[in-house]
Amino acid sequence: MEKLKAALERTKSKIDTTFKNIKFSDNNILESTNEAMYYMLNLGDGGKRIRPAIVLTIAEGFNGNQDQALEFAKAVEFIHTYTLIIDDIQDDDDIRRNAPTCHIKYDVNTAILAASRLFEEGLYPFHKYCENIELFRKLNNQLHKGQCADLNAESWEEDMLLLQHLQFIHSGKTSALIQMAILGGCISSKLSEQQTSKLLEYGYYLGLAFQAKDDILSKTETAQALGKSAGKQADKNKLTYPSLFGSVENAQIEADKLSEKAMSCLDKFEKENVAVLLELAKFTVQRKR
Ligand code: IPE
Ligand code: IPE
Ligand code: MG
Ligand code: MG
Repeated sequence: MEKLKAALERTKSKIDTTFKNIKFSDNNILESTNEAMYYMLNLGDGGKRIRPAIVLTIAEGFNGNQDQALEFAKAVEFIHTYTLIIDDIQDDDDIRRNAPTCHIKYDVNTAILAASRLFEEGLYPFHKYCENIELFRKLNNQLHKGQCADLNAESWEEDMLLLQHLQFIHSGKTSALIQMAILGGCISSKLSEQQTSKLLEYGYYLGLAFQAKDDILSKTETAQALGKSAGKQADKNKLTYPSLFGSVENAQIEADKLSEKAMSCLDKFEKENVAVLLELAKFTVQRKR
């Protein structure tokens, strides 16, 4: 996975540097919110920066507008960070990337304000450049529904614990955000509707595979290795891939199938244009964190 490794390193260095120097406002009244936004964008080691890498990879693969792609790359990481802040409040998690989560470092009110502001910043390039804004709104709506369903799932009865419900949650909370990254890459590269639609389908399966693997890692790895709490979803009797398929091994088989499905969406593209995306689908289900 040499191409992916290089692409992730390039993206991480670019985004980490950009966020280290980011300034949202020089208004002192907003200091605590701005500080919390800055803290979260640079949290721990900064994370894998996978969503920005998707944007930049598409723009590189299809010779797109690099400046525009960088705007989208930042935007999807803003939106990702917003979802992490809210998720950590909902999950009552203290640690992410081996560092205190936003509401622990600051407080819940500041965390909510920082999350809202990051989300708003993330919307900007989509509103600026999207010719079909309804498509973006649809993804946004799905993200929101996934977050809501994920929250409600904590009190679901036995008869709700079905694969279709789990995939509904994952397709919202994880795939929709990955699809936003894909959309940003496609817009920056002026891809056709048909190409965009195939890449969005890839993103749908990639998101499902990514979240299935996240459920697996939560069972097989320690909190220290993951940099965040482990085994908590299962403890709360929440629907996860390992719980639904009976074991980590069976869940891994399902995750591998989702990764294969993602790759098959790229069949019609020139291999060299989508080489990194192909490797990303493999990495997603083999990763250790
Ligand atoms: C964590 O996403 C949230 C999930 C969708 C499971 P990542 O695993 O991409 O987190 P970072 O940004 O690399 O920390
Ligand atoms: C991650 O959800 C956040 C989103 C995808 C919105 P989880 O609760 O499943 O994952 P972690 O373990 O906190 O990253
Ligand atoms: Mg969580
Ligand atoms: Mg959660």
